[in-house]
Amino acid sequence: MLTGKRITLAITGSVAAYKTIDLCRSLIKKGAELNIVMSKSAQQFIGPITFSALCGTQPITDLYAGGFPHIQAGQDIDLLVVAPATANTIAKLAGGIADDIVSTTVMASDCPVIICPAMNEKMWLSKATVRNTLTLSSWGYEIIGPKTGSLACGQTGVGRLENTEVIESAITNRLLNIGEIKDKRIMVTAGPTREYLDPVRFLSNPSSGKVGYAIAEEAVRRGGETILISGPTHLARNRFLKFIPVVSAKDLSAEIDGEFDDVDALIMTAAVSDHRFREVSDEKQTKDRIDENIQLIKNPDILKSLSATRKNQILIGFAAETDDIVSRAQVKLKEKNLDFIVSTKVGFNEGFDKDSIEAVIVDKNSHKDLGMIPKRELAVEVINKLAVLL
Ligand code: C5P
Repeated sequence: MLTGKRITLAITGSVAAYKTIDLCRSLIKKGAELNIVMSKSAQQFIGPITFSALCGTQPITDLYAGGFPHIQAGQDIDLLVVAPATANTIAKLAGGIADDIVSTTVMASDCPVIICPAMNEKMWLSKATVRNTLTLSSWGYEIIGPKTGSLACGQTGVGRLENTEVIESAITNRLLNIGEIKDKRIMVTAGPTREYLDPVRFLSNPSSGKVGYAIAEEAVRRGGETILISGPTHLARNRFLKFIPVVSAKDLSAEIDGEFDDVDALIMTAAVSDHRFREVSDEKQTKDRIDENIQLIKNPDILKSLSATRKNQILIGFAAETDDIVSRAQVKLKEKNLDFIVSTKVGFNEGFDKDSIEAVIVDKNSHKDLGMIPKRELAVEVINKLAVLL
């Protein structure tokens, strides 16, 4: 599948360096021709001999070994991947410093570049790394990850090297130009809404926002100009998107209206409350003052009203169902006049806040059963289908 594609993999000094062994094996298995470049500190974590055994060629580790190793590694290739990319290497690339084999190879390259950062959370969130990755992204470098999880230093947070499969699929997509949504404006809504009765009570649902955030991240990764409108969640967001926080269905609707004319697609994963309280009080209601027959009124259906007025925006809905996940989605697809809908199975102990979910993609002509699928992979499926429609 990657036969004849020439990739340079530049490895820098993070504990995650060992994870590139799997990446190498898998890319070679797919037919890619690999060149390996290793920084000095990468070699503290893993030896070049491992890669020469895997790839059949000696990794380039020294800028002064004779000839022009950085030109050899950076040019006449299809893709350059820096994984793991440390804060130090990212800073050098953003600052134009070329003082070792990795930084000179990247600077001398004339092909697409993918950067996969891995570092401690504080380092990833530091002002310097935020600025440097934004700079690289603005130059068209594709930034993959990092993800949240346990870090080598023993802490938990964002900074873990992205999974090998995700990096590999980014490499494949880039090399084969699959599912590019470059320069398309994608609006994603995510998370629950809250409908307040008074300052201390609200009506909501258990949506965690994981699907919507994964979709927004995938849209960014594929080059989409992405807006994420989110109800309250605890999730870390990708730094390359426009983020708009909201609370109620009414707020969400107003923010969508403000952006809708200029987007190419709306992916509505938000679990919008169907109802709100008729009366909202600014003061906490005492127990005795709350009417047992408290009155609710219906929130307008945002997607349905947009589908009546849209120009040529693609509209994608989500449904969370406890049963009949295909037939109910088919009804909603028609009622809301959507391009497609993703129907998911939820229950007291499934769907919400989990990392995987049972899902089916339903459009006018067919449905694709994805079974139990990691939410990150569901995001890839959704953007793949959107890319075809765009
Ligand atoms: O009809 P149901 O609420 O199950 O439809 C779910 C889809 O409709 C989701 O995409 C959700 O974001 C959207 N929705 C909406 N406005 C509402 C309720 C749901 O746009 N008031």
